[in-house]
Amino acid sequence: MKIAKNVTKLGTELVYDIFAKTKKLQAEGKKIIDLSLGQSAETPPRHVIEATIKALKDGNNGYTVPNGIIECREAVSRKIKNLYNADISPERIFIMPGGKPTMHYAISFFGEDGVEIIYPDPGFPIYESMINYTGAKAVSYNLTSNKDFKIDANKVLSLINEKTRLLILNNPHNPTGSFTEKAEIDKLAKGLLNFPNVAVLSDEIYGRLIFEKKEFPTFLNYPDLYDRLIILDGWSKTYAMTGWRLGWGVWPEKLVDHLFKFCVNNHSCVNAAIQYGAISALDGPEDSIHSMVKKFILRKNLIVDGLKKIKGIVCNESRAGFFIFPNIKGTGLNGEEFAERCLNEAGVALIPGTAFGKFAIDNVRINFTTSEENISNALEKINNMLG
Ligand SMILES: Cc1ncc(COP(=O)(O)O)c(C=O)c1O
Repeated sequence: MKIAKNVTKLGTELVYDIFAKTKKLQAEGKKIIDLSLGQSAETPPRHVIEATIKALKDGNNGYTVPNGIIECREAVSRKIKNLYNADISPERIFIMPGGKPTMHYAISFFGEDGVEIIYPDPGFPIYESMINYTGAKAVSYNLTSNKDFKIDANKVLSLINEKTRLLILNNPHNPTGSFTEKAEIDKLAKGLLNFPNVAVLSDEIYGRLIFEKKEFPTFLNYPDLYDRLIILDGWSKTYAMTGWRLGWGVWPEKLVDHLFKFCVNNHSCVNAAIQYGAISALDGPEDSIHSMVKKFILRKNLIVDGLKKIKGIVCNESRAGFFIFPNIKGTGLNGEEFAERCLNEAGVALIPGTAFGKFAIDNVRINFTTSEENISNALEKINNMLG
């Protein structure tokens, strides 16, 4: 049997391997504090669950249109208007089974042999995986060279050449918890006007989880880029709904017909009842988001303060999302060794920085959304492990 060459170029997310190991250790009776996953330890808002159950009881059991029911696309359009004062027609909005399919489709749309796609390193591992799959050259911008892992507009723009088809951005950022502010994003957006053939995929899935009262610089602020801009967003992180598999994308008008066919050829449509839950999330009260962010700030402060007290660990300030990305070089271990020992000796699951690219050898990613008690215990166990 021979499989297509490109399939062998696919990468993966190490987080799923560590998740499986953690589950196995837990099944063997070991106590593991799990700080590894890319999801909130909170639960979805009650009204969203109830709206979904009602939709099921009301008989929403069949296929829906591939781009998502119009009521759901209108709800996304309304939300975008309320949050960012941008006018996006529901025709340009696609409801997807998660945020990830927008990434998969966008990279598939632009990648092929002989072209280049620019992406962040460290970054969400599926960017590089999918670029390699398409045959395009994966050109990374190194975020470890910048203080606080922020995007440097000039550096990113300097990587663009005549072969560049797509630029991938992720702000706020996984795995570092960095947040690049409006002035730098303005500079980047302005610079992109000089490269009209370069499409932009802006992954904004953590955009509602910012810890300071700062404006979120969504790329929806730049209508001049709309004819080549794809926005990736969704419900997974904002509403603690990762397992629901629900996301949305905003696409350029001229790609909508192609995208519709991609959906038909792949997932057909998103789960019908869940789309009604999605509407209630967008239109309903936002208390759950606000209280979740408050908890995250508290827990982030707890873990940052605790890690700073451990010899050999230098901790960045996380400014959004779920994660911190400390440098652990001073412990004498690299990120992979540190994560391995944390899991097997300390009983704390976290992820080595190299799961997100080649540059962050001396970092680990820690999810801080768990309870304060778990965080305090994890800190104690890591400290004891290091002796
Ligand atoms: C930066 C980033 N983009 C996209 C996704 C995918 O989100 P979803 O679970 O909705 O597919 C994730 C999930 O971890 C992420 O961290």
